[in-house]
Amino acid sequence: MITTEKVLDVLRDVKDPELNKSLVELNMIRNIQIHDSQVSLEVVLTITGCPLKITIQEDVENAIKKLGASQVDVTFGAMTDEERAALSRLLQAERQGTPNPATGAAKQPSAPSIPALLRKDSPTTFLAIASGKGGVGKSTVTVNLAVALARLGKKVGIIDADIYGFSVPDMMGITQRPVVIDETILPVERFGVKVISMGFFVEDNAPVIWRGPILGKMLRNFLSEVHWGELDYLLLDLPPGTGDIALDVHQLIPQSKEILVTTPHATAAFVAARAGAMAIHTKHELLGVVENMSWYESKSGEKEYVFGRGGGEKLAQELNVELLSQIPLSAPEGMDLDSPNFAPSVYPENHPIGELYQKLAKQTIKATSQK
Ligand SMILES: Nc1ncnc2c1ncn2[C@@H]1O[C@H](COP(=O)(O)OP(=O)(O)OP(=O)(O)O)[C@@H](O)[C@H]1O
Ligand SMILES: [Mg+2]
Repeated sequence: MITTEKVLDVLRDVKDPELNKSLVELNMIRNIQIHDSQVSLEVVLTITGCPLKITIQEDVENAIKKLGASQVDVTFGAMTDEERAALSRLLQAERQGTPNPATGAAKQPSAPSIPALLRKDSPTTFLAIASGKGGVGKSTVTVNLAVALARLGKKVGIIDADIYGFSVPDMMGITQRPVVIDETILPVERFGVKVISMGFFVEDNAPVIWRGPILGKMLRNFLSEVHWGELDYLLLDLPPGTGDIALDVHQLIPQSKEILVTTPHATAAFVAARAGAMAIHTKHELLGVVENMSWYESKSGEKEYVFGRGGGEKLAQELNVELLSQIPLSAPEGMDLDSPNFAPSVYPENHPIGELYQKLAKQTIKATSQK
């Protein structure tokens, strides 16, 4: 015989795809009614119009049918503001690594404590992608390295820490906005990478004119209010130079490792060296240098060193780190512009440059799992 308990029991294995938690634990199941072998119930969603409604419905139906139900009727409702706030508290407690507040234990002090992601025992490796100079390809390297790590099965996130000059959403072809549940922000997932960017919160590309303390606060919020879940790697796409944000990253995430991006031009390498010097000064471990726009390969297969030559090598030597990769000039060509998988700056896995990023990802994994 089907009972309410049995229904709840099987639904414990059905997860909300975005939050990766059981619908029962999230308190989303209501009003279970059983008549003979017919079951009806209500699922309350965090937002009406949840894009994953169909998936949830199918998962719920399939789970209950396994109990022998002849018919399953699922209706959908939306959480009340209070329920959303309670859910946000539950998620927040998880981010803080503290017991579930709903079960009564450990009431959180209102002062912000360190998110679990940043604690010493956190399994997440932070990688800041930096350069001394603008336009050398930090964001391009960030998104492609992140996607390459995800292709290798890693759980990956990106913080677009370029608060004024955010570019990650466009580069990855992201058109969605994050779901916000009370004070919890769910990052947008694209190509298996979880992304958060100031660009998601700015209307019509209006310029962002916040400075100083607010910038630091945004970064802090991106770490504490965004529900990242488990992450192996969190990449930070830094703005150019050695400004406020770079300092904030050093301060907030001293354990962050750093990859320096430079062009092959001697001057660019020189400026990147300043950022490198700062990383060393703040004791960030430098993983190495990526030289971008290294050459252009003409149709005849000849390499043209459009932006000079040797900058990456020189910089790596100067900083006594490895030159991890040299990435030639190219656009992700031969891609279907209308495909839902199109993203202006993400190279497919089998593109020659995509292959270079896979190699860089493997090197990164090796370099970061040595200890
Ligand atoms: N290897 C490459 N081949 C061709 N174009 C590239 C390459 N790398 C980057 N680009 C292009 O160069 C421009 C600058 O790259 P990107 O935005 O990644 O640099 P950035 O260092 O993040 O810049 P900013 O300092 O403004 O944040 C972009 O238009 C990008 O598409
Ligand atoms: Mg950038």
